Formats: sequence, C-alpha cells, structure tokens
Amino acid sequence: MAVYEATASAPVNIACIKYWGKRDTKLILPTNSSLSVTLDQDHLRSTTTSRADPSFTEDRLWLNGKEEEIKEGGRTATCIAEMKRLRKQEVEDKQPNEPKVKNHPHHAPQILRSDHLGLQLSTHHVHIASFNNFPTAAGLASSASGFAALVSSLAQLYKLPVSPSTLSLIARQGSGSACRSLFGGFVAWEQGTLPDGSDSLAVEVAPQSHWPDMHALICVVSDDKKGTSSTSGMQRTVETSPLLQHRIKHVVPQRMADISAAIRARDFDKFAEITMRDSNQFHAVALDTEPPIFYMNDVSRAIIALIVEYNRVSVEKGLGRKAAYTYDAGPNAVIYTLKENVKEIVELILKYFPQREGAFKDVFGLLGGVDVAKVEG
Ligand code: DP6
Repeated sequence: MAVYEATASAPVNIACIKYWGKRDTKLILPTNSSLSVTLDQDHLRSTTTSRADPSFTEDRLWLNGKEEEIKEGGRTATCIAEMKRLRKQEVEDKQPNEPKVKNHPHHAPQILRSDHLGLQLSTHHVHIASFNNFPTAAGLASSASGFAALVSSLAQLYKLPVSPSTLSLIARQGSGSACRSLFGGFVAWEQGTLPDGSDSLAVEVAPQSHWPDMHALICVVSDDKKGTSSTSGMQRTVETSPLLQHRIKHVVPQRMADISAAIRARDFDKFAEITMRDSNQFHAVALDTEPPIFYMNDVSRAIIALIVEYNRVSVEKGLGRKAAYTYDAGPNAVIYTLKENVKEIVELILKYFPQREGAFKDVFGLLGGVDVAKVEG
C-alpha cells in the first residue's frame, strides 16, 4: 500500500525591522511590514514529517516527541485546514483536463485513479511530527521555523506547485514571523492592505548568496522562558501605546526602504544603524505599553554598551560600524557582523563576559552561519 508521507525543514529567522502589532488577530495581519535574515539551514531549524492515511481518525501533532493538542480553530488547525483546502483546489483545478484525457481510453483509468486518490488525500487525517535541532533551553523562539516547516511538509505531501510566498500566507496564520522563514537570506514580510490578508506575505529581498559574509552571533543571556509572550505583549502594545502609532505611520515605511537598499548595496554600516535603531524602538514601544513590558535585562544592556563602544572606535578610524545588536521578546542578543569581524567580536564578548571553560561553542561558524555564546552576567 502506498504511504503518503513528506518531510521538510525550515530555519529560524531574526528580524532587523521588527513585527510588533496585529491589525487582525485571527488572520495574523500586522500593523507594519518587517524584514529579517534567515539563519543557516544547517543549524537552527525545525524538521517536520507529515503523513496522511485513511486509517487515521484525527489530526495529531508531536513536538520533539511529545504529543500536543491541536485546538479546534487554533493556529495549527488553521494551517492544516488551509493546506487541505489548497490541495483540494489543486486537484479540482486539474479537472478541466479530464475530457481531453478521456479521449485516450488507454490513459484514462490511470488519471482517474490518481485524481480519485488525490481528492481522498485531502480528506484523510494527518499525523505530524516536528523536531528542533536546537535545545528549547537555548531561549530561542521555535514557532517561526516550526510553522514554516509544518506548512512546507504538507505542501510536499500534497505535491502543491505553489511558491514560497503563497505558502507564507498560510505559515503567517500559524505565527506571524513564520512567514519569513519560507525564504532563505534577506526577507520582507509586506503588511498588505486587503482585509482577507491575501497580500500580507513574505518576499525575498536578496538571497543569502548575495551577501554570504553576513554572520549572526547568538548570545544566550538567559534560557528562562520569557515573561510576556509575543502574542499577548504585542496586543497590549496595540491597545495602549501611542508610540506604536508613531512607529507604524512615520518610522517603519522609510526604514523598510532604507534597509532593503542597504542590503542590495551590501552597505553594512547602514544595515547596522537601522537594525540597532529598530531594535531600540521595538523595546521602547514595549516600555510604552501599559503596564510596561521589559524584555532586556542588565546583561542585554551591557552587551549594547559594548557594541556601541566597539562601533564608536571603528567609526573613528573611518571604518564604519562593524556590528549590529538586535533583541526580540527576550534578553538574548543576536549580533550581526561580517565574517572578518566574527573572531574579534567573540573575543571581545568573552573578555567582558567570562565564560566557564568550554561554555562558549563556536559550533556554527561557517559562512552565513550562527555562533552561539552563553553569556553570564
Ligand atoms: C519580537 O511571530 O512570535 O520576534 O504572530 O503572535 O505568533 P505571533 O508573534 P511572533 O512575534 C515575533 C515578534 C518579534 C519580532 C519579529 O520576529 O519580527
């Protein structure tokens, strides 16, 4: 008997222009566009296998070997339902060819059989198993890579000839930032204007090969679970922060244009300036929320001071900025830099934040890769 099974993987992405705020919480439509860098496929990624079988009595999901409930009407259920709908549509769209095929009786039974099976496939229940190749304890968000891998594996299972942008429309409904993990390299999530969300999707700004020297250094400051989740934190910001309104109207549109231009021109100094300013403003709107949200801690702020000083010296020498920090909804730093500076920055961080022997792991250090350092305050 045929086994219908497919596996796909997707990497983590880290935003330079932050997504923070929804205009539609069900469809996950953002209040502003955002832009990220997708990390190396080899390192931080989720790998997901989906299987469809007539004997399955319900859709089921396992995360890192542990079964998770698929809540009715929840994000996972929505993504699965949307993928099944695409599959059904794809099979139906092929129907007009049928009369032509029927003129060739020799081929007809085969086509009918595959169409018949195809339709069934979208009505079968699915079992989905997803694994992260990084410890959840690393304090890194896995929902972006997780939903991108889930949607990709179902697309493969259903043999859908759709673009990554089309899949991003569905991954977005799992977790907003997941839509950007459908592409490698430099990716924009265009907020869109349509109420049904059909133009709120990810597009490639440049592939990783455009700027292969770009590196990300991840400093794990704390692996505690964050206090306020992105989902609830950003909703509170939308409801209470006047600064967010200024940000979405008057700041982000220009930054999206400027950082895209900086990426195309491989202008690291400009890329770094915008990335750091946007991280700062994101944490400012978190502070402007009622009650306020603090994601960074003293170690996070000390790393900022270190990078600011490092860049000051570099700018003074006429070399421009050489590093860019950015922080998501937690205290861990991601530092973007070019390959030639990785060693120097790692040494600098180790000097100011001494590690236990061997705690620092340069495990991911190749082109476009990530380096992970555990930093103790
Ligand atoms: C600070 O994508 O996790 O990392 O759409 O509610 O699932 P939901 O939120 P999520 O938010 C990510 C917020 C961020 C910034 C970013 O990745 O752009």
